[in-house]
Amino acid sequence: MTIMEPYRIKVVEPIPLTTREDRERSLSRAGYNAFNLRADEVTIDLMSDSGTGAVSTAQEAAASMGDESYAGARSFYRFHGVLSELTGFPHIFPAHQGRAAERILFGALLEPGQITLSNTHFDTTRANVELLRCEARDLPCPEAADLDSQAPFKGNIDLRALEQTLTGPEGDRVGFVIMTITNNGGAGQPVSMANIEAAAAICRRSGVPFLLDAARFAENAWLVTQREPGYADVSPTEVAKRAFRLADGCVASLKKDGIAPMGAFLAMHDPEVASRCELILTATEGFRTYGGLAGHELDRLAQGLREVLEPDYLRSRAAAAAHLARLANEAGVDVVQPPGIHALYLNAGRLLPHIPPGRFPGHALACQLYLEGGIRCVELGSLYLGTLDDDYELVTPAPYELVRLALPRRVYTQSHYEYVAETLAAIAKRPESVPGYRMVETTPILRHFNSRMEPVPM
Ligand code: F0G
Repeated sequence: MTIMEPYRIKVVEPIPLTTREDRERSLSRAGYNAFNLRADEVTIDLMSDSGTGAVSTAQEAAASMGDESYAGARSFYRFHGVLSELTGFPHIFPAHQGRAAERILFGALLEPGQITLSNTHFDTTRANVELLRCEARDLPCPEAADLDSQAPFKGNIDLRALEQTLTGPEGDRVGFVIMTITNNGGAGQPVSMANIEAAAAICRRSGVPFLLDAARFAENAWLVTQREPGYADVSPTEVAKRAFRLADGCVASLKKDGIAPMGAFLAMHDPEVASRCELILTATEGFRTYGGLAGHELDRLAQGLREVLEPDYLRSRAAAAAHLARLANEAGVDVVQPPGIHALYLNAGRLLPHIPPGRFPGHALACQLYLEGGIRCVELGSLYLGTLDDDYELVTPAPYELVRLALPRRVYTQSHYEYVAETLAAIAKRPESVPGYRMVETTPILRHFNSRMEPVPM
């Protein structure tokens, strides 16, 4: 039977239907950079799954109960109650978004010159480590390098490399280990419970704090129940609870698995770390019972955190991602295997072999999806990760030329995804007609947000 969405639509938002001419004009005006498009020029927006989910009637009802008291609001205690039961951490603070939670917790833990280790640091996580003059080092597991294999947990950390680093000459410089679940920088692949347990044990032996970046904790938990031996009969809630209980602390953007436009939290066991965090939180985000969020936002999150762990919701979301991945593959566009949940990663390098890395095949596919179908997404390839010289020519390419189709929660239906697959199929019929791109203007940091590009016929 079809696995259907376990909800029906009650409030709708029209999406713009545009012509090819409209889109050509818009993309040219935007300097061929999707970040410069206006949302009303986009038909299907797969740029991010962050803050883009649809809220439920129960979340809106909860938000209407929001208590906006400056200190000790009822909303905070409801938010705190849900997270305390879920995570078991004695110290839990709200923050306005994930990167603020990172800045606060990392600021309380790191000294300049230290190293942090991760399965893969998300880009803001890395930036917050580097801003503290520390080095962020990724230790993805070897299976992650094969984009096509069906290995179930390609988001894992390389346990041998972790152990070697912690017991080697640089071991005493490691400030913390942070496990990103699911591994967004690593093609959205999940991390197994066995890997989290083993990494936590290695950290404990070395006396190094073990943290989670738990932005997609519920989706990771679902994939554990589906893929890891021994978890088929364990609920996603129980898996998530066990994962949090293996960590010394965590940060999580709740714009993903909190299913709300804004919010995050940081949490920890150590009371001294907590009091340092509380100081930075109060100075830069807000008092400990609101941390930069309104009371009604805390209530919306508390309800979202319950809904996100419902098996019927997770099953249907995973099925939608798998369905789109299958249609893309049938259309001749390879997707990093096995498909995760929050996003699909398209192998643009393989689809567009006539475009060399220096003409940015991932960016070319992202632009083509917009021109053909008004679909917005972003590349994860040499434009984002490569190194460029002073003339903006590529010096070191990224390991892969990918495009991420991020899937907002509860927003698009199966027919929207079928439209995306048809657009991909149209491109895959004549890939050689897709032009490459050249960078004409950019900024020294956060290049992908700010660059202007122009097409180059191949
Ligand atoms: N950690 C992970 C794993 C993330 O994916 C993100 C955001 C953050 C931290 C930062 O959280 O946006 O609330 O400050 N990821 C978004 C994305 C932006 O599109 O993948 P934030």
